[in-house]
Amino acid sequence: MSKMPEYLSGFCNENATEAVPGALPVGQNSPQKPAFGLYAEQLSGTPFTVPRRDARRTWMYRIRPSAAHPPYRRIEQPLLCGALTDPTPNRLRWDPIPLPEIPQDFVDGIVTMLANPETTNGAGVTVHQYLATSDMRRVFWNADGELLIVPQLGRLAIDTELGRIAAEPGEIAVIPRGVRFRVALPDRSARGYLCENHGAMLRLPDLGPIGANGLANPRDFLTPAAWYEDRDGPTEVVQKFMGQLWSTTLDHSPLDVVAWHGNLAPYKYDLARFNTLGSISFDHPDPSIFTVLTSPTDTQGIANLDFICIASRWLVAEHTFRPPWFHRNVMNECMGLIMGAYDAKQGGFEPGGLSLHGIMAAHGPDNASAERAAREDLVPRKLDGTMAIMFETRQVLRPTVHALSMSQLQADYDAVWNGFGKNFTGGRR
Ligand SMILES: [Fe+2]
Repeated sequence: MSKMPEYLSGFCNENATEAVPGALPVGQNSPQKPAFGLYAEQLSGTPFTVPRRDARRTWMYRIRPSAAHPPYRRIEQPLLCGALTDPTPNRLRWDPIPLPEIPQDFVDGIVTMLANPETTNGAGVTVHQYLATSDMRRVFWNADGELLIVPQLGRLAIDTELGRIAAEPGEIAVIPRGVRFRVALPDRSARGYLCENHGAMLRLPDLGPIGANGLANPRDFLTPAAWYEDRDGPTEVVQKFMGQLWSTTLDHSPLDVVAWHGNLAPYKYDLARFNTLGSISFDHPDPSIFTVLTSPTDTQGIANLDFICIASRWLVAEHTFRPPWFHRNVMNECMGLIMGAYDAKQGGFEPGGLSLHGIMAAHGPDNASAERAAREDLVPRKLDGTMAIMFETRQVLRPTVHALSMSQLQADYDAVWNGFGKNFTGGRR
């Protein structure tokens, strides 16, 4: 008998998986009597009536239906979705937040940094960081959007309703809206970025003239095989609903899905598998060439969220300015650093740090990076050991009051663009 695979392959494929052979019904979704006394339950990630190409749903065969729960009651987590400040046009950058001495699980360790003001109407994003120092003893789910988890420090062992995912720095995990999960810390602590996507579900970007292959390839997205725990006993379940946490207690584990089929499931992706494309002549393309996943809006080409990864690669373009050029952008750019150094900054942007360059905020390489780039001999050069990520969103991001009061906020960030002298020769060569 073949061993059950840990992961199924492919981006949002229609998958079918059973932890107990025979648990999946054949030929229908909701039989009168599902096998082994299981309950059939559908999880819909898109409205029933969207075009078939966009439809995402999964049928689960579970020990108890999710509907069997007492009322939820509000609980407090003061750093989660705290009050937003007025929008600021200023460029902002934070040093990494140190891990706390006290034990806190993945949910208690969420610190909301930036958010679009209207995040509950099916659009927008919220950017958090997480700092966890203890395993979750409870189960969490999010009614407000899907969760894009980007580990920066420490591995995550994510047990979900639909299977188990192991994610480490350099990988990402995406948990769909509504899916129950629990996070344990194999390295006893973990830090990373958490982007909550309130808009259309993340998908692979179109490739246009690039062709049928390149950037993130569908088969490298891994969905977990069915796994379940049959455990009776008090289990706290916490949901995030409209920016606040609500808790209830079940008398069993809700991670009890024995089999499932469908195309709505958590997945992971190793960013090292991203097939980075770039210029082999002069100049470099817009950073959209680094798009891993996108959440589109109703307007073609305007993303609610683009998730971008800028990692190790060769620089070969000739007679050109190689770092990110100076620019102003109608989109709002929130950047993090997983490892190494970012080629537009000579310091100050550390792994675990965060920056925001909002709509039309002028930015680009710092003075030291620009000077070096203008002088360097343009031989082929490998940028190695680096991985930066960006959450790029159409809507203006506002910092939380807490984010602006943190000691990690750099008071002198603007100074990295000081010292650009006047080199204009007045037309004399
Ligand atoms: Fe930028």
